[in-house]
Amino acid sequence: MDVQEQFADYESAALDAVRNAESAEALEQVRIEFLGKKKGRLKDLQSLLGKASPEERPELGKRFNEVKQRVEQAWGERKDGLERPPESVEGIDITLPGNPLVIGTRHPLTQTMDEFRLIMGRLGFAVADGPEIEDEFHNFEALNIPHDHPARDPLDNFYLETAQRFSGKPLLLRSQTSTVQIRVMEQTRPPVRIVSLGRVYRPDAVDATHSCMFHQMEGLMVDDSVTMADLKTVLRLFATAYLGDDVHVRFRPSFFPFTEPSVEVDMRWKDDWLEIGGAGMVDPNVLSAVGYDPEQYTGFAFGLGIERFCMRRHGIDDIRRLFDNDVRFLRQF
Ligand code: PHE
Repeated sequence: MDVQEQFADYESAALDAVRNAESAEALEQVRIEFLGKKKGRLKDLQSLLGKASPEERPELGKRFNEVKQRVEQAWGERKDGLERPPESVEGIDITLPGNPLVIGTRHPLTQTMDEFRLIMGRLGFAVADGPEIEDEFHNFEALNIPHDHPARDPLDNFYLETAQRFSGKPLLLRSQTSTVQIRVMEQTRPPVRIVSLGRVYRPDAVDATHSCMFHQMEGLMVDDSVTMADLKTVLRLFATAYLGDDVHVRFRPSFFPFTEPSVEVDMRWKDDWLEIGGAGMVDPNVLSAVGYDPEQYTGFAFGLGIERFCMRRHGIDDIRRLFDNDVRFLRQF
């Protein structure tokens, strides 16, 4: 065999071996045999070069390099191929996701709140947060609820004795998310457009429709010329998005210290009127309390009970089911 033939022989044997290597270990053996630096078949070829005549040597050297490169490249590609996970094993596409391991579900109220945030986000409302432990300024005073107002009765609120001892001022679990209206307005200038969702606490006797802890979604919009029509539009768009396309909103006159005028909000869904919360135009006293000029700005606010929506949507008949944490119940959502 002349040198050229030996090169060709080496190349085809090497490429065959590379192709037939079925594992990383087998491929490593191929590397040692065909591309090994110390000994092996490549080394043998190289020594042939040394024996060639000076005239032949440049041509053979070039050929040697070409052969070596092709084998190295084939070897590298095969290595990548072996490392990549195979896409199918006997007709099964193993890259498809498997059955997820069910270790829990999101609480129906969490699902409801996520959906509320999404809907209100689409209407241009950002999400704001506030603490559940509040002082009297944010829970009452700034909301125009005077000292002698019955809503401040200690028997109607969860005052926190120990926290009070540390802070030196009365603290309580917030009784409404309207506290967040104040916190947001203290920190930003109009235009304001936020919702805040979270827990509120009232020492109510617990029954099928009452809980001493429940959730509200507060909404607040303040700008140059916000009107009650904006309020009704936003509430109607919201209810329609959540419940379906046959929701009507009804306002009934009411009273809240922090809105003027104030209304109770009902929604009609599937032939039933459902009371869902309170709303109104932000009282000028509230705007003043946070340093907004009531001559320049107007706003609306609303506070909706989240449990009501969730129970209505899913046909849940007792609010306590939402807080019993019976997994047989929770798993259904
Ligand atoms: N905070 C009131 C409540 O808890 C609801 C409300 C919010 C009313 C905003 C008017 C404006 O009952």
